[in-house]
Amino acid sequence: MRFRFSLLATVLAAALAGVTARTTSVEERASFPRMVFCHFMGVGFAYDSADRNGMKVFISYDFNWWNTGQGAQIGSHMAGYASRPAQLFINGAAFISSFAGDGVDVNAMRSAAGIPIMFVPNFHPGQGNFDVLDGALNWLGWPNNGNNKAPTPGANISVAAGDASYRSALGSKPYLAPASAWFSTHYGPEVSYSKNWVFPSDLLWYQRWNDLLALGPEFVEIVTWNDYGESHYVGPLSSKHQDDGASKWVNDMSVDFAYKAGASSPNSFITSDQIIYWYRPTLASLNCDATDTTANTPANNASGNYFEGRPDGWQTMQDAIFVVTLLTSPGTLTVTSGGKTQTFNAPAGAASFSVPMAVGQQSFALARNGVNVLAANSLKDISNVCPCGLYNFDAYTGSVPPNFIDPLGPDGLNSLVAGLHVSTCRPTPSLPTSAPPYTGPGGQPTGIVYGPGLRDRIRRITVMGEDSEIFHFVA
Ligand SMILES: *[C@@H]1O[C@H](CO)[C@@H](O)[C@H](O)[C@H]1NC(C)=O
Ligand SMILES: *[C@@H]1O[C@H](CO)[C@@H](O)[C@H](O)[C@H]1NC(C)=O
Repeated sequence: MRFRFSLLATVLAAALAGVTARTTSVEERASFPRMVFCHFMGVGFAYDSADRNGMKVFISYDFNWWNTGQGAQIGSHMAGYASRPAQLFINGAAFISSFAGDGVDVNAMRSAAGIPIMFVPNFHPGQGNFDVLDGALNWLGWPNNGNNKAPTPGANISVAAGDASYRSALGSKPYLAPASAWFSTHYGPEVSYSKNWVFPSDLLWYQRWNDLLALGPEFVEIVTWNDYGESHYVGPLSSKHQDDGASKWVNDMSVDFAYKAGASSPNSFITSDQIIYWYRPTLASLNCDATDTTANTPANNASGNYFEGRPDGWQTMQDAIFVVTLLTSPGTLTVTSGGKTQTFNAPAGAASFSVPMAVGQQSFALARNGVNVLAANSLKDISNVCPCGLYNFDAYTGSVPPNFIDPLGPDGLNSLVAGLHVSTCRPTPSLPTSAPPYTGPGGQPTGIVYGPGLRDRIRRITVMGEDSEIFHFVA
């Protein structure tokens, strides 16, 4: 499903970063260039690749792998990378981050590194000592229950509450705030029995960028570029990655709605009309228990990391088609889901909409003065068949005009059918390369405008991104 937010996201992130700067006080921000990072799951050659492409990177030490007793080793490791040309330096210090790591000996780390370090780890307010940090990353870009699961009515923590808690722990130190588009994962028995949950994601990408505009953090980290396993990737599926089982839910699930969704106030960044949409492949009520066999073990139950059936938190997702319009002038949006049509007045700029999702074809049109200027069917229908026999709460994203086709590569396809209990799922991308012609309300658009291709987008990132195309990877 994913066109995932893809590069569009990055373009708008860059745009928004610029806009954000204008909304916050100059004094407060004076010493830091505003930057948007993208969390990238590790490949050893990231520094070389970044260098060849004029990008900057930094390492985020994953403390699921490193341990907090290794401050000095981490410092030496940092020193080895900090001399590489692609290393990001801010105000003369090598930028370093982490996933978790509360309690690591930061002084030992700094002294082993032997060079100035700007350490902005994912410490947690109330757990780690923020006095020894230069800033901090909040990873939790999803509303949650305070215990790494979806909120419940009794335990419901917004992303903004996380922002406030970090802001307060940080004082005047810079805050690396999260922006995520989606979270769903389903590692059942076909894979490794490790996790089976979602966080409420629906319009999160759009809302979060609006919130970030108001908040104006020094830095933003997109979580993530390519963590397919947790469905929060915004990068293309076609980028090379090792399959850890995620191909079962990401095949065909490309998500391209991007950052553009966040461009609500920076209207000046909207230079052509676009309808961006996303939705899950099936209704939440679809029962996949028969083929998604999940004989839970007491150990899994005890770990809290695996639950039978639908992913934990599934009730926090709405059965809806989500639409963001990016318009140069007002128009009429028509959304048809499974034969049911709704129309909306869409303003100039960015706006979001949702309509109930129904099985069947999904189509989208934009009209002005009663004439369609954009109109297309989605490549992907909503189905009443469990995808690969599994519960799949990932999102498919598309846009009108269309973006690039983003098929899953061989790494993922090779293992796609392993462990499945149905034979209906083939290890090939199954989306057509073009949708059937639009025959909905208003008929064919008067002029077809083709969206920019991948290469154009990359170029736009380079042009608009300034410091934004900085990726980091997990060591
Ligand atoms: C959590 O709070 C938000 C904002 O008030 C609300 O929209 C959402 O429905 C709540 N979620 C749950 C599970 O109670
Ligand atoms: C795991 O927990 C579920 C939900 O509480 C329960 O129905 C199931 O019997 C448990 N399975 C095992 C093997 O303990």
